[in-house]
Amino acid sequence: MLEGEAEAPSNIAIVKYWGKRNSALNLPLNDSLSISLEALKVRSKVVFDPELSKDKVRVNGVKLSDEEVKSYASRVLDRMREISGKSIYAVVDSWSNFPSSAGLASSAAGIAALTLASSDALGLKMDPKELSKIARLGSGSACRSVYGGFVIWHSGARDDGEDSFCEQIFTHDHWRDLVDLIPIFTDEKKRISSRKGMSVSVETSNLMKCRLEFVRETLPSVLDSIRNRDAKKFFEMTIRHSNSMHAIMMDSFPPLIYLNAMSLKVIDSFGDGKIAGYTFDAGPNPHVFTLRKDAESVEKTLIELGATKVIKSDISAGPRVGKKGVDENN
Ligand code: ADP
Ligand code: DP6
Repeated sequence: MLEGEAEAPSNIAIVKYWGKRNSALNLPLNDSLSISLEALKVRSKVVFDPELSKDKVRVNGVKLSDEEVKSYASRVLDRMREISGKSIYAVVDSWSNFPSSAGLASSAAGIAALTLASSDALGLKMDPKELSKIARLGSGSACRSVYGGFVIWHSGARDDGEDSFCEQIFTHDHWRDLVDLIPIFTDEKKRISSRKGMSVSVETSNLMKCRLEFVRETLPSVLDSIRNRDAKKFFEMTIRHSNSMHAIMMDSFPPLIYLNAMSLKVIDSFGDGKIAGYTFDAGPNPHVFTLRKDAESVEKTLIELGATKVIKSDISAGPRVGKKGVDENN
């Protein structure tokens, strides 16, 4: 039996990935940019066992269906088997350090942790760039969780995906004053998956072309705002990029509405970008970036708006491979 273990951070995209040019390889239509989060981590243990007849995955003790395993984890494991030349199935156990009932997506961190743990188990010595390409096969956003700090995912142009990988652009301590507040308004889970949703958008949204142009044009100023630690510009760009993706969702047919009344209140409260910048993925709970000095007042507003809990996250230094990285609270 071959065993490996790793822990990876979740990431939140500032410039979002919403639309693929190739679904089998998870090749995106646009570059995206994310921040890895210290407070939301997933640890995965992988055991390759010659006795198994298929891959098995448990997340926080709950067994995933064969269909789910096939469309996500096994895409990573298949590639690892191909590279190592070992045709052995694996059993994967995965835990998040935050409650699964919080409605926070954890697949990116989970798939990244699985990628690192399986490479460790098979004794493959791969650099993060290669690992990001493999994590991408499991779930697009997972390729960014292979790194800490600020991460860019280059969409690439090749059909085989060899130029679609991630790199770290700034380390976790580049902007120490920046914090992410994650208010929990709902643990509602019923929604269309990102995978399904983005394919509906690619097929039906007339605004998609316009958004791709917007991303191309504004990515340099997002990078500048981070490089210069320009909070005002960063908040504005964070808000604009989130709104741009949600406009595409609304413009899809049938429309995709991931935001709820609470989300609109957050938009209303922080939309001027003066002290914070919000961003929403395919769900109603926001990530609200602010400077450390304003965190308390932003948190107070979020609680007044109805948040039952506010998770405060620093920027993650990156994943850890091996048992040493295990979080004692897990
Ligand atoms: P998202 O995080 O993208 O919102 P889900 O939480 O529904 O979406 O996860 C999508 C799929 O990712 C799940 O169906 C499951 O197959 C896979 N997945 C999620 N977490 C893990 C994990 N920790 N390890 C392996 N696969 C996972
Ligand atoms: C809204 O990475 O979950 O979070 O590649 O099909 O697995 P698949 O999709 P996924 O989509 C994430 C979409 C998003 C935006 C983002 O993280 O960039």
